[in-house]
Amino acid sequence: MEVKIFKDDHAAAEAIAAMMIATIIQKPDAVICMASGDSPKKACAAFCYQVKKKQIDSSRIFLVGLDEWVGLAPEVSGSCRNDFQQRLIAPLGLQPGQYHFFDALAEDLEEECAKMENEITSRGGIDLMVVGIGMNGHIGFNEPGVNVELHAHVISLDATTTAVGQKYFTGPVSLNKGITLGLTDLMEAKKVVLVANGSHKAPVIKQAIEGVLSENFPATILQQHPNAYIMIDALAAADIT
Ligand code: F6R
Repeated sequence: MEVKIFKDDHAAAEAIAAMMIATIIQKPDAVICMASGDSPKKACAAFCYQVKKKQIDSSRIFLVGLDEWVGLAPEVSGSCRNDFQQRLIAPLGLQPGQYHFFDALAEDLEEECAKMENEITSRGGIDLMVVGIGMNGHIGFNEPGVNVELHAHVISLDATTTAVGQKYFTGPVSLNKGITLGLTDLMEAKKVVLVANGSHKAPVIKQAIEGVLSENFPATILQQHPNAYIMIDALAAADIT
């Protein structure tokens, strides 16, 4: 795991976008898995800007959504699926065969998990995974105490996640369960970038990097990933020893 600290979130976003670009130049049909939420927003914008400016071919990339709130329709503003539509699918003109997301309305969520794993494995695995970190140390919806050996699964959300998650929606939303790739998917990804910005993330970044490896703080598992980058702004890096 390598920690890269940037002067601000713009600089971090540019560097993450450059990593995404390098990935698809090297492998035009790369499988890129993205988190939704606030943290990767600027990196997605910088990536789309660079793809257009440098006329990079994005017609073969395959985008995978890291997670979704169970019960939310894809068109709901604040759902992960909706974020991807605005941030990547529409700006890049990605075609339906170029992405796969969890259907959080599916009757059989276990089958949804199996479908997702199949999409990933049939393409040779995830080349680049860009994730955030929750205020409880979660990655995706791998909440504290999660079984680290899981692939995609459905999980009851932690109280912190349901409370913090309200920020994505205009009114109160009932958020009880999540469907998410597991920590085994994270560890199997060829490259992982964890992005975090702002002083509110400083304590969790410190724990992710310096804390004891534990399923009670899921992000610590990245300490063992052979090709993981923690890409953060100076504010989020403030508590690192
Ligand atoms: C969202 C996701 C979550 C977020 C995390 C940080 O798809 O996977 O794990 O990455 O909760 O959220 P933000 O970036 O909004 O601070």
